[in-house]
Amino acid sequence: MTPVLELTAICKQYGAPDSPAALRVLDGISLRVEAGASLAVVGPSGCGKSTLLNIIGGLDRPTSGAVTLDGRDLGLLSEDALAGLRNGLIGFVFQQHHLLPQCTVLENVLLPTLATRRSRAQRQADTGRAEALLERVGLADRRNHRPGLLSGGESQRAAVVRALINRPRLLLADEPTGSLDHASARALGDLLVELNRAEGIALVVVTHSPELAGRMGAGYALADGRLTRGPAPRMALS
Ligand SMILES: Nc1ncnc2c1ncn2[C@@H]1O[C@H](COP(=O)(O)OP(=O)(O)OP(=O)(O)O)[C@@H](O)[C@H]1O
Ligand SMILES: [Mg+2]
Repeated sequence: MTPVLELTAICKQYGAPDSPAALRVLDGISLRVEAGASLAVVGPSGCGKSTLLNIIGGLDRPTSGAVTLDGRDLGLLSEDALAGLRNGLIGFVFQQHHLLPQCTVLENVLLPTLATRRSRAQRQADTGRAEALLERVGLADRRNHRPGLLSGGESQRAAVVRALINRPRLLLADEPTGSLDHASARALGDLLVELNRAEGIALVVVTHSPELAGRMGAGYALADGRLTRGPAPRMALS
């Protein structure tokens, strides 16, 4: 079966190659993620985790190497085709939430659905899913609030729901529990694991939480530009 994601020898370097400021963040990363799989990526601050997620999601280009999503090489796609593929295939939870301040929580969650034409019935179904997911993360009574009135943890939960609204096949989450208390983090982990099982959404989760990392099917450590596989809980503690 075609993997949902394949990375081949990804390198990312910032700055001109022979300048003293050159920084090689990713140094030959290859990875295959099957549909419905889940994995955690752990590693110290600044090791390149967000850079890796941005490259996987087509928000940044590698210096060399190939990213293939659902069998399509991102390097061969136009910006429009890339945006279409991203919108249909990927949900992205950013380290910064990027909620639109002028829209309510519910409107923010429904934003990704606006990129494609939908029938009235589909729009109703989208709203139903948004409301059910918001309820699931404890935000039902915040859905008409604007993000400026939310706490950091509430914004984070809203951003996770927004990433899930289009039923992505691959969810890329950058520290999704970073600003949550223990109970909310646990509940969000439950939601991710349940959606992974029930909807077959593949998960690539960057986290500093050993608990969340331990709930993924596989764990990887990113260090010195290289990704190595190992037991998730042990690595997450390092
Ligand atoms: N546009 C850029 N130009 C130059 N250097 C950059 C750029 N973006 C990121 N970096 C550097 O690349 C390295 C990796 O950054 P990245 O944000 O991927 O780290 P991270 O593992 O996500 O860290 P954290 O855990 O703190 O979020 C850092 O040293 C950062 O300073
Ligand atoms: Mg980061």
